[in-house]
Amino acid sequence: MTFDVFDPAFRADPYPVYARFRECDPVHQGRPPTPGEDAAGWWYVFRYTDAAAVLKDPRFGRAIAPALDALPPPVPPAEREPFWEHYARWTLALEPPAHTRQRALLNHAFTARVVEALRPRIAARAAALLAELAPRGGFDVVADYAFPLTLAVIADLLGIPHDDLAQVKAWSLTIAAVLDYKRTWDVMAEGNRMALDFAAYLAEIVAARRARPRDDLISRLLAATDAAEPLSEEEVISLAIMLLFAGHETTVNLISAGTLLLLEAPAQLALFRARPDLTDAAVDEFLRLHSPIQATTRIAYADVTLGGRLIRRGESVTLLLGSANRDPAAFADPDRLDIARQPNRHLAFGRGIHYCLGAPLAVTQGGIALRALLAGEVEWGVAAPPVWGETFGFRGLKTFEVETMGRIGSGEKVDASQRPPIAAGRER
Ligand code: HEM
Repeated sequence: MTFDVFDPAFRADPYPVYARFRECDPVHQGRPPTPGEDAAGWWYVFRYTDAAAVLKDPRFGRAIAPALDALPPPVPPAEREPFWEHYARWTLALEPPAHTRQRALLNHAFTARVVEALRPRIAARAAALLAELAPRGGFDVVADYAFPLTLAVIADLLGIPHDDLAQVKAWSLTIAAVLDYKRTWDVMAEGNRMALDFAAYLAEIVAARRARPRDDLISRLLAATDAAEPLSEEEVISLAIMLLFAGHETTVNLISAGTLLLLEAPAQLALFRARPDLTDAAVDEFLRLHSPIQATTRIAYADVTLGGRLIRRGESVTLLLGSANRDPAAFADPDRLDIARQPNRHLAFGRGIHYCLGAPLAVTQGGIALRALLAGEVEWGVAAPPVWGETFGFRGLKTFEVETMGRIGSGEKVDASQRPPIAAGRER
């Protein structure tokens, strides 16, 4: 069996492919997902227990340097390119003790209290957006609702001026392309240009916050000095890039996929409307069924046997989180939406030391956004077949148009022929 992440049918619907591999070849030796890389030593892990085990096992790691050391020459000096220079400072690229130090400093600046304090602002932004969108009769959930909402929230958190958000969004999309598994040299060149521009932009904001701190995360990161070594200015810039990117791209996908799942399952939608106490559980279920990060990679730092296969030191192991989250050995009736599912120990936020730093923010924000849209007065329906994006590691809807069906409880129904057309051709 061949596992081809470039197959358009797989990208459109990966779940039947995952099911076959979970059953027949759960630790699969396959082709590298990035063209031009060495074909040997690429492993794909499909089952829940194997993926969870790798995420918690210190014999598998994230650092770029050991991965490069392990590859045969000639190794491109990737870590010296502007993009990888920043990436190498991201929490996700570090190993202990550097990871432990940075994560502690981030946790100190990005507390549960900070997330809780954002709640009213997120709700106000969602309400304002919907007040603007509802009279239109229809809109694109991705471009018109999820993106503006999540970008504004992460910008508020970090203290980024809203006038600059279109640019931040464009930079983030470039990051997603570079980190996706279909990286090309052109994409990489664009990523390097982006890294220089994004860092120069943030350097000005960091200098301004250093001179005059505000109540925002960049100011708090600059002040986070309770560890032996505080964060350097370069680190704060790289981390701001990381947070601006990680802070919205995935959450957009959660909000749009959650909307789709509920609109396709009227009984679950009715339950969601009736039971606000199920909001967080529902969000977990959306993340399980359509994991915004479908795959993440580790490098073996030692020879390890996994599922009966020998993975050698230096080889790459790609964990299919989206497959693990639909493994029938871990979840009863795994393809069914059950917003009250208990327990639901999905891997959509990872596991182990790199467990998602932003999980509380993502769950809070996703819950508020979905309740505002789907448990309000307006009844929405699917207006056109949703279109999934082409990337594989980050999976999400590219466009998803909804339209007004009426007002809940009023018995009012909308005449579809009277509705204005939804603006077409918006790019994410
Ligand atoms: C639905 C939304 C989100 C999903 C599905 C998600 C998913 C993930 C996953 C799977 C990982 C672990 C990757 C690995 O171990 O290889 C991760 C790590 C991380 N996430 Fe998220 N994330 C989301 C939202 C956020 C937000 C809102 C932020 C920040 C504001 C954020 C910041 C981070 C950071 C900094 C890490 C690295 C943590 C570390 O290395 O210790 N994420 N995320």
